Amino acid sequence: VPTVHPLSPHVINIEYTLSEASFPYLQTGTTFQVCLLILTAVLSPLLPVQVKQAVVWALEAGYRHIDCAAIYGNEVEIGEALQETLGPSKPLRREDVFITSKLWNTRHHPEDVEPSLLKTLKDLKLEYLDLYLIHWPYAFQRGDVPFPRKEDGTLLYDDTDYKLTWAAMEKLVEKGLVRSIGLSNFNSRQIDDILSVASIKPTVLQVESHPYLAQVELLAHCRDRGLVLTAYSPLGSPDRAWKHPDEPVLLQEPVIAALAEKYKKSPAQIILRWQTQRGVVTIPKSVTESRIKENFQVFDFTLEADEMKSITALTRGWRYIVPMIEVSAFYDG
Ligand SMILES: NC(=O)c1ccc[n+]([C@@H]2O[C@H](COP(=O)([O-])OP(=O)(O)OC[C@H]3O[C@@H](n4cnc5c(N)ncnc54)[C@H](OP(=O)(O)O)[C@@H]3O)[C@@H](O)[C@H]2O)c1
Repeated sequence: VPTVHPLSPHVINIEYTLSEASFPYLQTGTTFQVCLLILTAVLSPLLPVQVKQAVVWALEAGYRHIDCAAIYGNEVEIGEALQETLGPSKPLRREDVFITSKLWNTRHHPEDVEPSLLKTLKDLKLEYLDLYLIHWPYAFQRGDVPFPRKEDGTLLYDDTDYKLTWAAMEKLVEKGLVRSIGLSNFNSRQIDDILSVASIKPTVLQVESHPYLAQVELLAHCRDRGLVLTAYSPLGSPDRAWKHPDEPVLLQEPVIAALAEKYKKSPAQIILRWQTQRGVVTIPKSVTESRIKENFQVFDFTLEADEMKSITALTRGWRYIVPMIEVSAFYDG
């Protein structure tokens, strides 16, 4: 639980929708298509115009899902790109794309949920979201400071129960403001907590996952309960400012490299294919146009069953993204 890290600012995820027929594991039965590959472009510290450009590139390339979050601070720029691209006499219709966003930790209080969503909709220039996630299972003190801190520098938490937050999320579905709701960074116990009270079930869980953190048990837990798993930091987050020189470098993993050689693909494509082939959505991040295209080209080859197993066997419980929870007298874990 403890340790650190502030989230990457200025992030967008862009996702390509693939036919469900190829992936029988995914039984959504919900209001939206399953999206199997998301390309995320983290744009910090890029200029707003670059955020907008990246969204436009991706939509032109065929991506059809944009995964946003209020905390990433770039929903206005994404909204501008959407406005240019979606609508009558424009390249795409609203219903052609799947837009996700996330409720930030300072907005868990039930009274804050709808206003937060309305702000996101205003920024994105949309009338509804396809999916809204609770970003993290813990709340910070209410207010406009995204990481509120005490004088001693430790974070200020709030004791809002995420089950109450969930009830407020359900109201958004009932009002037609979002088509589905889900969770991010929740563990299996926390998912079951939500399910124990949910009248509208979560459709998606977004967590860190890659070959060094295959999340096999959590994936099975989600499948049993009808949730689709989305993997963040799927390439091992190599651009993190806080990476340690001794940590394992996923993109240099020899097992992956050998498969890349065999299939004439890049290590990134092998990893994305592995996740896609086991029915996990991935959100690789790139600001590079060539990589945006490269990460999209994982649908023209198939890994053999023993190759899939050899990648899954690399798992070692390694987390590149470790959130910080500072325990205080008011926080019971
Ligand atoms: N829900 C959450 O709490 C949460 C937490 C963390 C992250 N996330 C999401 O997950 C997304 C991805 O995570 P991440 O950024 O930590 O890690 P990542 O996607 O594993 O790694 C991104 C890095 O990989 C590079 N890259 C992209 N495609 C590549 C390729 N084909 N070959 C080689 N390098 C490539 C990118 O470089 P260039 O950009 O230079 O091309 C960038 O430096 C984030 O954007 C965020 O949206 C969600």
